[in-house]
Amino acid sequence: MAKRALQPKLTVPVEVNIRRATRRDRRTCIRLARARELTAPGRRGPELWWITDLLRAAAGIFFVAEVSGKIVGFVAGERLASSVALLHLIAVDSRFRGQGIGDGLLRSFERHARQRRLTVVLLYAYALNRQTVHFFRAHGYRPGSTVREFQKAI
Ligand SMILES: CC(C)(COP(=O)(O)OP(=O)(O)OC[C@H]1O[C@@H](n2cnc3c(N)ncnc32)[C@H](O)[C@@H]1OP(=O)(O)O)[C@@H](O)C(=O)NCCC(=O)NCCS
Repeated sequence: MAKRALQPKLTVPVEVNIRRATRRDRRTCIRLARARELTAPGRRGPELWWITDLLRAAAGIFFVAEVSGKIVGFVAGERLASSVALLHLIAVDSRFRGQGIGDGLLRSFERHARQRRLTVVLLYAYALNRQTVHFFRAHGYRPGSTVREFQKAI
């Protein structure tokens, strides 16, 4: 079998601005959340009302990443009643992945949670999505073992 040289990762360094999300960012975030990796059969992506509520909520944690003034990624979650920050969604436009934007968003989320004296970030990711699982593992996240996911189509 012929060996193929591994292609080096070709990335142009981009300048990224990470800031708190505003109402004007909602539709772009919805579009980004329609990423193939975030959709499953029979499930809809997030809707406008959900993002609006999260932005309004005192417990909401919501950041966007901009490149040249355009939003290319976001992270959204919230403080739970305990010391836990629940990370609902993180997504980066597929054309901008692999350049540290996800890293920057996740760090902003964690920093914000730490500042509010939260001690744990909890999140759900599709187990078969290797890129995402790798991303979280590389950031120190480990699969839990104390709860089991139960589902029922209704
Ligand atoms: C998970 C996700 C947000 C990561 O975003 P990202 O911007 O690609 O993340 P990063 O660039 O920070 O890290 C990804 C990889 O790029 C590498 N990288 C970071 N900075 C880099 C740079 N300047 N140049 C090249 N590579 C870089 C990272 O080391 C990492 O590589 P590795 O896989 O070898 O460790 C993105 O893949 C995504 O949107 N996935 C779909 C949505 C999803 O599944 N979300 C999670 C469930 S909520």
